[in-house]
Order: sequence, then C-alpha cells, then structure tokens
Amino acid sequence: MITLKNITDCDLRTQQLVLGWRNKPRIRMMMTNQDKISIAEHSNWLHELKKKQNHIHYIVFDEAGPFGVAEIKTDDEFGIYIGRDSYLGKGYGKKMMEVFLKAVFETRKQVWSTVKKNNKAAIKIYKDAGFYISQDRDDPELLLIEKEVENEK
Ligand SMILES: CC(C)(COP(=O)(O)OP(=O)(O)OC[C@H]1O[C@@H](n2cnc3c(N)ncnc32)[C@H](O)[C@@H]1OP(=O)(O)O)[C@@H](O)C(=O)NCCC(=O)NCCS
Repeated sequence: MITLKNITDCDLRTQQLVLGWRNKPRIRMMMTNQDKISIAEHSNWLHELKKKQNHIHYIVFDEAGPFGVAEIKTDDEFGIYIGRDSYLGKGYGKKMMEVFLKAVFETRKQVWSTVKKNNKAAIKIYKDAGFYISQDRDDPELLLIEKEVENEK
C-alpha cells in the first residue's frame, strides 16, 4: 500500500535520504532549479518548510520503506519524483500520483505544474491522471499541466 507522510514528521535519516535523491542528475535535470543542494541549504529549507502553511513535501512510502516524493505548494503547484532507482519503470509513478491527488483534492480545487517536453514518462502519467496539457506561454521547452477537482471521477 502506498502512503504519504509529511517530511517534517519524518526522522532525520529519511529527511537526509531525500537530499541524496534530489541531487541525483536524473532528477535534477527535470526540475526548475537544477542546482545541487548542500546539506546546509537542505536544513535551512526544512526549517522554513515547517513555518509554511499549505506547503507539504510528502515522502512516499510502500511496505518496504520510502521511495519517492510528492510536493504541493501554497499556490497549488505540485511536483513528484521517484527517488529509489529500483522503483523506476514499474508503475509506481502512476500509483503515487493517484494517492497524492486523492490527498490534495481533499482540501484543494486545482493543481498545476510545468513539465519538460522531453519528459515522456511524466507526461504519460499526467495524461493518464486526466491532466489538461498546454504549451507554456513563456518557455517553448515546457508544457503547462492542470487538473481541477471537478474532473475527478
Ligand atoms: C516521472 C517519474 C515519476 C515516472 O516514474 P515511473 O513510474 O518509473 O515511470 P515509467 O517508466 O513507468 O513510465 C510511465 C509511463 O510512461 C511511459 N514512458 C516512459 N518513458 C517513455 C518514453 N520515452 N516515451 C513514451 N512513453 C514513455 C511508460 O511506458 C509508462 O506508461 P504506462 O503507464 O502506460 O506503462 C520518474 O521517471 C521520475 O521520478 N522522474 C524524475 C523526476 C520527474 O521527472 N518528475 C516529474 C516532473 S517534475
């Protein structure tokens, strides 16, 4: 079973695991901020996160432990990634998206994000989840993806 836990409620080991995932080249290259993150920056980010309302950085678990991340920000922007390489290509992206959307639509009416045009796996997951996909007006390499709670079946 896939479950979500707020990173601020996780133990230090899990919080540090996330830093290692976030700095992997295959993950960084798909993010808006592609910089490598230092331990100090990570600690500071966690500290600030605790003060934020409606910005939740979930760690995604299955029975074996943590394997990914799903985040929702105050302005309804979201992001997901699989951190453990052994979980790639097995349908976990789709499953975690389902669990995550169910959780966020309990309190929000819409979610949105941007995705790089070459990120075929992510685009497939978003299409399957019923997202509306359009060209980002400001960046030819990006697509804008949106979904409203009314579209939920
Ligand atoms: C996006 C991500 C979560 C998807 O994880 P995943 O579940 O392992 O993805 P898969 O490899 O199973 O691919 C998902 C689907 O896309 C399809 N797909 C993957 N690569 C593809 C390609 N190059 N062309 C066409 N389809 C592709 C798969 O066949 C699969 O389709 P299916 O559900 O019909 O079987 C994972 O790749 C990841 O963490 N990426 C880095 C971070 C990221 O890009 N996050 C999202 C954008 S912010």
